[in-house]
Amino acid sequence: MGEDLTAERIIATTGATGAVGGRVAARLARLGLPQRLIVRDLNRAPELPKSSAALAAYEDPAAFGRAVRGADVLFLVAADRAEERTELLRAVVDAAVAEGVRHIVYLSFLNAHASATCPLGREHHATEDYLRTVGAAYTFLRPSLYLDLLPGWIGEDGTIRGPAGDGRVAWVSRDDVADVAAAVLREPERHVNRVYDVTGPEAVSLGWTATRLSTLTGRTVVYVPQTPEEAAGYLHSRGLTAREVAERVGACAAVAAGELDAVSFTVPRLTGHPARSLEGYLRKHPSALSHAPLFGNSGKAVTAP
Ligand SMILES: NC(=O)c1ccc[n+]([C@@H]2O[C@H](COP(=O)([O-])OP(=O)(O)OC[C@H]3O[C@@H](n4cnc5c(N)ncnc54)[C@H](OP(=O)(O)O)[C@@H]3O)[C@@H](O)[C@H]2O)c1
Repeated sequence: MGEDLTAERIIATTGATGAVGGRVAARLARLGLPQRLIVRDLNRAPELPKSSAALAAYEDPAAFGRAVRGADVLFLVAADRAEERTELLRAVVDAAVAEGVRHIVYLSFLNAHASATCPLGREHHATEDYLRTVGAAYTFLRPSLYLDLLPGWIGEDGTIRGPAGDGRVAWVSRDDVADVAAAVLREPERHVNRVYDVTGPEAVSLGWTATRLSTLTGRTVVYVPQTPEEAAGYLHSRGLTAREVAERVGACAAVAAGELDAVSFTVPRLTGHPARSLEGYLRKHPSALSHAPLFGNSGKAVTAP
């Protein structure tokens, strides 16, 4: 009988208190894989079988190095401090590699490249570029825009506003992103130096998204195209921070430019199930659009101003 080389492998999971990392940690636990959850607040670390928690913020690379000690594989979610994101992640990656981490699975962004319209795309590209040079194996997961965040794009008046033109995007659920990450982390040796686009099943415009959401929920959802300037003013007035405004406007502009118009087969290929659709998402979250107005008595959606 051959030796089971994976028996003692430890996965260091960052972002375990967040949306994607939390889902990934739960899936790894269900698979029975040992993991170290790297968190900024030990009280918020999820309690999972075969897991231990270690305290480290990316701002403290020495603590991060101690936290990953003994781990072979690292699942890395980017920092929330966007302005310093690239520098922080470089230091964290250096610390992990110095401690013997052999493979880094990085949660990036679809179509990350140096001249990406969206700031997220440029920042994730810078980190990907660095990861290619450090001597550890890498796998880049490049999700499209998160389907789960779409309800938050819709105002109480039922409008989705943004400078996305008629461009298309294949919204992807964070559950699917986590399923893909778990599949990769389970057998990282099969995904050495691979780059995966992680998307939903179909690329659709925001106008079409609004129409479909309306039909599925019986609520008024209308897409109102804006210029980037109009969008920035609107989002500021809704209380978003400057950074959040830049990311949303950038994401919409990337959609308009066709930079997110991609459909991949990564979800079905690596997980064995189809990528979740808008319909599937709403079946699971039937009240996701409860803040949008119901249709009027006419049964037709109102036209947005
Ligand atoms: N928005 C989109 O549509 C989209 C699309 C594709 C990819 N992405 C990428 O997906 C990632 C976010 O995923 P998410 O939804 O899981 O976000 P999230 O729920 O905000 O989770 C972020 C996680 O990272 C941790 N974290 C942030 N900064 C840290 C730091 N300096 N040191 C240590 N830990 C830190 C957070 O810890 P705390 O709980 O302590 O805050 C949290 O656990 C981002 O990298 C983003 O660029 C986003």
